[in-house]
Amino acid sequence: TQPILLDCDPGLDDAVALLLAAGDPRVEIAAITTVAGNQTLAKVTDNARRLARLAGLDVPVAAGCERPLVRPPAWSTMHGDSGLGGVALEVEPVALDPRHAVDVIIGVVMSRPGEVTLVPIGPLTNIAMAVRKEPRIVENVREVVLMGGGYHSGNRTAVAEFNVLTDPEAAHIVFGEAWPLTMVGLDLTWQALATPDVMGRIGAVDTAAARLVVDMLGSYAEAYRSNHFASPPVHDPCAVARVIDPSVMTTRKAPLTVELCGTATLGMTVADFRDPDPQCTTQVAVDLDVERFWDLVVGALSQLSQP
Ligand code: BDR
Ligand code: CA
Repeated sequence: TQPILLDCDPGLDDAVALLLAAGDPRVEIAAITTVAGNQTLAKVTDNARRLARLAGLDVPVAAGCERPLVRPPAWSTMHGDSGLGGVALEVEPVALDPRHAVDVIIGVVMSRPGEVTLVPIGPLTNIAMAVRKEPRIVENVREVVLMGGGYHSGNRTAVAEFNVLTDPEAAHIVFGEAWPLTMVGLDLTWQALATPDVMGRIGAVDTAAARLVVDMLGSYAEAYRSNHFASPPVHDPCAVARVIDPSVMTTRKAPLTVELCGTATLGMTVADFRDPDPQCTTQVAVDLDVERFWDLVVGALSQLSQP
């Protein structure tokens, strides 16, 4: 099994990503860390602790940065006031690990050299802070597989995606390190639509976790309808799916950088496809095997026992 550290801001699609990782036997969640993004740090941390309980996880859950490195905080409009839309998690939160998320990230990576995959699915503040505090995590991670960015378009602006635009300086740091990094961006995640057919498949699983996912995706769908999507794109589980089964998507190597000074392009993730260098350590996700992706989600939800 592949150990992962999930750095998240739940977040409706973050919640689905967490449940996917918890339910699939091919990955092991070593720790969950939280970062302000979709909602305040306090709210997303509370959500993560309740989700961990729901998924039956006994792993450290630690809170991280409550604001971006340089910019003011900017909450998402897609996840409601609680961060989980209209969905209430009627379970006790697991205990909060007293350490700062940055120290948990460093501790988990350094204690298992070469083994741990970092899976950031929120703004990259914690990961940037961790690599500045302990640069040796670069050669000690297995890889970084993140949800964020996009090489063709954005969602928060015409060219910038929410996670990257919320903390572009942090993203610039993370994209600039020499670790193997896969950007699972909007180009990929806009293919992962929770259509009525998909909702039917998840509903048929009929476990507590699956019922919760139906409610959460229903809430997400409502938010996305006002953004001209008939069905919502379920971003964050795509990064987890890549770790579970790399063949679920194709990728393309490209040097990546984040625009920090453009007046119309702040937070744009710029992929340079001109001259692929075999030594390049960064790649972007391109095409999703949609059927197989939803098979993974449905399979994981069926594995999670009733809380
Ligand atoms: C990303 O932004 C957040 O709102 C989602 O949770 C996802 O991580 C998509 O742009
Ligand atoms: Ca997220």
